Amino acid sequence: MNVKHAETSVAATLTEQVLERLETTPDPRVKYIMQSLVAHLHDFVRKVNLSEEEWAQGIDFLTRTGQMCNERRQEFILLSDTLGISMLVDAINHQRGGAATENTVFGPFHVEGSPQLPYGADIRFGVEGELTFVHGKVLSADGQPVAHAQMEVWQVRPDRLYDVQDAQAPHMQLRATFHTREDGSYAFWTVKPVSYPIPADGPVGDMLNACGRHPWRPAHIHFRIRADGYQTLVTHLFAAGDAWLQSDAVFGVKDSLIVAFNPGTAIHPDTHETAALEVEYDFVLAPQMS
Ligand SMILES: [Fe+2]
Repeated sequence: MNVKHAETSVAATLTEQVLERLETTPDPRVKYIMQSLVAHLHDFVRKVNLSEEEWAQGIDFLTRTGQMCNERRQEFILLSDTLGISMLVDAINHQRGGAATENTVFGPFHVEGSPQLPYGADIRFGVEGELTFVHGKVLSADGQPVAHAQMEVWQVRPDRLYDVQDAQAPHMQLRATFHTREDGSYAFWTVKPVSYPIPADGPVGDMLNACGRHPWRPAHIHFRIRADGYQTLVTHLFAAGDAWLQSDAVFGVKDSLIVAFNPGTAIHPDTHETAALEVEYDFVLAPQMS
């Protein structure tokens, strides 16, 4: 057997060897995932005829992605989002149908423990922008109010940064945790969200550049709504008319989540300003699977 033939032979049987080695995996789900992962990765390497230089670039890319992660930056979530993996996992796991509000990406900018605020509170915390009143109800699929649902909201500042992207931010801004009232209602004061580029100064930005892609997301407000007996809803409300709705960098837009920011009439209870804009939206929670 000459050397070339030996290499070809190894390449032909290597996948089988690795799959066989994984046969001892005790947990059947882990075994299934690992064997499928290896089979697909090996197929990928063969299909693109990966060069050693390209594989080294891939290792370097993943290394830099990990090194970019800290308590303020989650580059792996950005990578998952920009490759459409986050939305695919979401789609597989949340095929709700019916009246239930649709999910979208969680994103990398959620912070645990945002300020607990009462109905109708102001989440601006010094941020200036177009004063916006957001209100509506949280309902069950049959239209009944969901009382005491926990609603977390977070959004970008008008300077196109989340508070966590600004080391100088005095405290949490444009994020809070509410609980719905007995009639399922919620309300808060904020500023109009703006479209923003996802952080493009790291490896994910390099990837977008290499693929001729832009980093922009259409303006949105994030929500996570949790209530006993219901599936957790992670979603956004997108501002109608935004220029990036058709090409969201993370593929998160769904038509049912696009809302109008109409001229406002509500009066701020503390400052007595009239809302520049007003959004009304009812969220519908799907029942918990038994
Ligand atoms: Fe966002």
